Amino acid sequence: MGPVDLHEIVQRLNVPAPPEVLVGLGTSDDAGVYKIGPDLNLVLTADFITPTCDDPFLFGRIAAANSLSDVFAMGGSPKVALNLCCFPHRGIDRDTLTEILRGGLETITESGAVLIGGHTVKDNELKYGLSVTGIVRDKDIKTNAGARVGDVLILTKPIGTGVVISARKTGLIDDSQTLPVLQRMAQLNQTAAVLMNEFDAHGATDITGFGLAGHAWEMAHASRVGVRFYESRIPRWPLSETLVKKGVKTGVTLANGQALDQKITFDERITPEQRMLFFDPQTSGGLLIAVAEEEADRLLKRLIDAGIEDAAICGEVFAAEHSHLEVEP
Ligand code: CO
Ligand code: CO
Repeated sequence: MGPVDLHEIVQRLNVPAPPEVLVGLGTSDDAGVYKIGPDLNLVLTADFITPTCDDPFLFGRIAAANSLSDVFAMGGSPKVALNLCCFPHRGIDRDTLTEILRGGLETITESGAVLIGGHTVKDNELKYGLSVTGIVRDKDIKTNAGARVGDVLILTKPIGTGVVISARKTGLIDDSQTLPVLQRMAQLNQTAAVLMNEFDAHGATDITGFGLAGHAWEMAHASRVGVRFYESRIPRWPLSETLVKKGVKTGVTLANGQALDQKITFDERITPEQRMLFFDPQTSGGLLIAVAEEEADRLLKRLIDAGIEDAAICGEVFAAEHSHLEVEP
């Protein structure tokens, strides 16, 4: 028996989709969108993760930023959040749990949202995240399906966080090497979301567990286009390249790669190690933004001026009968 595909089960349930549901279960979008009034829509999402680091405060911030990111990826502004806590019964002290929630609260507050409740269950493995509700105006809704032929792709955070976290867990690298990566993961995708709306970007998604290639594929598939990346232009953590060369992998890198086997073509000059980073799972990764070519340079400059210094133009959208991904050097 293979793994249970919950998405497929839900698809078979014939979930009602009244016209108020603008973005629902039918697509692989980051969050649902529900119309509640003229030019006013709710954006709803929930996400929780296992610890990314030993520092509970920093983990709380990363988990919250990761949950909030799906609202930003849809072009929305988060308004209210609920804590989702799976906390072990034993082996973890009150101070640690307090620090996780304190970190989460700091990031929720930074996002402009308000914490209004939550739910806790006992679980052997600690998990923390949020359910977030935001709002979005009609014209700002960004879905996977929005990318248009001729658009340019901008990525707003470096990839390679998965392999860095993996290496830290096995003691291959120390905290001082990992800290800059974790701190970047704790940063919100808020500024990037505000700016992509200002430049009327066509579509967006955030890069998380399926890796850059997996999420780019969802965009290509939903938009019925091809996506081409330029490997050398993709922002990545230099440390992650070193680790990949040493053979470090995450538990899901190979599965992410296999899922895209028939859907991605690498130029022969792209090394096997370079290919790995396309499938590296991200936590609280950046936004992948599809924007009109004539707006791309100005949007990129605004992102960099706003402190998102790793942001880069790293690909483009092309016409394709069957959606697929291409990677050039
Ligand atoms: Co997402
Ligand atoms: Co998510």
